[in-house]
Amino acid sequence: MKFKGIIFDLDGVICFTDKYHYQAWKQMADKEGIYFDEIINNRLRGVSRMASLEIILERADKAYTEEEKEQMAYEKNETYKKLLYNMTTQDLSQEVKDTLNALRAKGCKLAIGSSSRNTKLILGQLGLADYFDAISDGTNITRSKPDPEVFLKAADFLGLQPEDCLVVEDAVAGIDAACAGGFESAGLGEAAEYEKCTYPMRSFGDLVNIG
Ligand code: BG6
Ligand code: MG
Repeated sequence: MKFKGIIFDLDGVICFTDKYHYQAWKQMADKEGIYFDEIINNRLRGVSRMASLEIILERADKAYTEEEKEQMAYEKNETYKKLLYNMTTQDLSQEVKDTLNALRAKGCKLAIGSSSRNTKLILGQLGLADYFDAISDGTNITRSKPDPEVFLKAADFLGLQPEDCLVVEDAVAGIDAACAGGFESAGLGEAAEYEKCTYPMRSFGDLVNIG
């Protein structure tokens, strides 16, 4: 493996919390009478909570004050957290678990690079609270993907340069962030179809064959 460090996005890569984000936003949008569907939801991948709300509000027929927006984001997050509390170690797939352990056995340092402010809660539910060598998340950044800040901080926390780290992403915004930071990337799902992705993958386990 040519990479000394691997930086994983969380939602849609390590676990499948995307469906919970969708359900929670959908509940908020329905309450407000705002049209929201899975296609709009795809644009929210990797994007921060408030930036996600702005995308949803493109379909609103009235303007909301900053205070109202804060309240809507708060309510969405309360709904989302209730769904997260039902997650258990069973929600971590055997493939992800085995691949992480295999990469670590090869000597790679492993980090999380996620826009989510719920990262530590989610890792705790999955039984990964103390697993990673570094965690860079929504609580230590001011600019969301496609800005590279979250990955640059992760590399810094690992004590590595971007060129020594591989970023693993499922979102186009995340691949753009990796490129902007000088990282090579491995992509799943829509990220694998994206021309800027260095290593398109069909499944998470393909990571052991990269580099
Ligand atoms: C990203 C998700 O990981 O985190 C986005 O892909 C989400 O959909 C973002 O909006 C922020 O998450 P949170 O948990 O801080 O609302
Ligand atoms: Mg993601």
